[in-house]
Amino acid sequence: MSLVGRAREAAWLARAIDRPESRAVVVRGPAGSGKTALCDLALENVAAAGALTGAGKYGQGDSQPAFAPIIRALTGATDAALEQLYDPQAGAAAMVAALGPALAVLQSAGFGAGASPVEPALGPPAGRREGAARLTAAALQLVRWLMGFGSPVVLLIDDAGRAPCSTPSSPRTATPHPPSSSPNATTKPPTMNSPRAPARRCCNLDLWPTPIVLP
Ligand SMILES: Nc1ncnc2c1ncn2[C@@H]1O[C@H](COP(=O)(O)OP(=O)(O)O)[C@@H](O)[C@H]1O
Ligand SMILES: [Mg+2]
Repeated sequence: MSLVGRAREAAWLARAIDRPESRAVVVRGPAGSGKTALCDLALENVAAAGALTGAGKYGQGDSQPAFAPIIRALTGATDAALEQLYDPQAGAAAMVAALGPALAVLQSAGFGAGASPVEPALGPPAGRREGAARLTAAALQLVRWLMGFGSPVVLLIDDAGRAPCSTPSSPRTATPHPPSSSPNATTKPPTMNSPRAPARRCCNLDLWPTPIVLP
């Protein structure tokens, strides 16, 4: 899909994602300003260039588990990794071996790539905090395994500000933040902090609706 009037923002986002030190790129803006469209395009482009990509989205008033969109994105990136292999089944077996018990933790949260569900190891039921910590550790283990493919791993979490654990002032979408009042589209330019700044691990792009250009 091509976007109207977003060449500058698309180039900024591509540069920000491309920086090896980037850990999170947050795109913020009012509803309808084009955050999802811009991020989808960026994800398509990096996937075409060989990155392992996946996407998940938080919905309004979601009843899905807190980590579900992240797990969905990880499933997509893992499927992409396995598809790169000459023998995806052998790759899936290698993943099972590399992840060990972490795979059952991921699968119990909805992870669906590569392998049939493994039997969860019996243990005391985890409390919420402990469960979240285990899942986070398992997800990081999976990401480390994915990084062994030697390609960038890029996950799009759309509307991350709707995640149950986020606060009103926290980032919204490794990708977008909450609509404040709608700014004046013709006078408010996009603000971008520099993706080239050396030590920055998180970059923000504030997106405002594109001005309507009459022919
Ligand atoms: N630059 C653009 N060029 C063409 N269509 C766009 C552009 N930006 C957004 N759109 C379209 O406008 C609508 C709203 O954009 P969307 O990305 O969903 O906004 P947001 O995620 O910020 O709420 C979608 O139908 C999208 O395809
Ligand atoms: Mg959106």
